Amino acid sequence: MELKQAIQTRRSIRAYQARTISAAVIRRLLDLARYAPSSLDGQPWHFIVVTEPKIKAKLVKLKNRFCPVEKQMYRADFMGAAPAVIVVCVDKQRSFNRDIENGVLVTATLMLAAHGEGLGSVYLSAYRTDKPGLAAALRRLLRLPARITPVTIVPLGYADETPEPKAMRALAEMIHYEQFRRVP
Ligand SMILES: Cc1cc2nc3c(=O)[nH]c(=O)nc-3n(C[C@H](O)[C@H](O)[C@H](O)COP(=O)(O)O)c2cc1C
Repeated sequence: MELKQAIQTRRSIRAYQARTISAAVIRRLLDLARYAPSSLDGQPWHFIVVTEPKIKAKLVKLKNRFCPVEKQMYRADFMGAAPAVIVVCVDKQRSFNRDIENGVLVTATLMLAAHGEGLGSVYLSAYRTDKPGLAAALRRLLRLPARITPVTIVPLGYADETPEPKAMRALAEMIHYEQFRRVP
């Protein structure tokens, strides 16, 4: 798929076919994702590939338990049906105090790579500086050493839904030349 088309057609996918994703495909996605930019080129990533139903169920439970009140309607139950879930982590020793940025950029790259392979994905946060409860629980569940921070959780699967093309805010509302100008 051409890059422009991939960028324009990627959507969050939360319903998945039962079809499994081969280990080779997952490896190919992670191999691509790691070309993402990172602070001082530290390439600080660790990817926990979860396919065991029991561990997936625990991820769902934790994500729901730590869901902020304002997002209670967006439960993570769908993640249990994803054939694979990638927990994207960052090693503090290679991250130069930029854990979140390093984790988010590799996640965006992973999601585009997945779309290019015909796979659906969705971004779920694992880490919030103001509320570290979920990250701590993930650390226990996945046996992450203290220096490894989970940043995002990315369910992956062949799509079993076809979202509409999304309504985009007008570019004119976002673009400014030289200085910020109020949009009339
Ligand atoms: C920081 C962030 C947090 C998100 N958290 C959730 C989440 O908790 N649950 C969920 O289903 N989707 C989550 N999403 C996905 C967004 O809902 C989705 O990207 C957005 O609605 C735009 O749709 P699109 O990805 O199809 O373009 C999150 C996305 C971002 C960037």
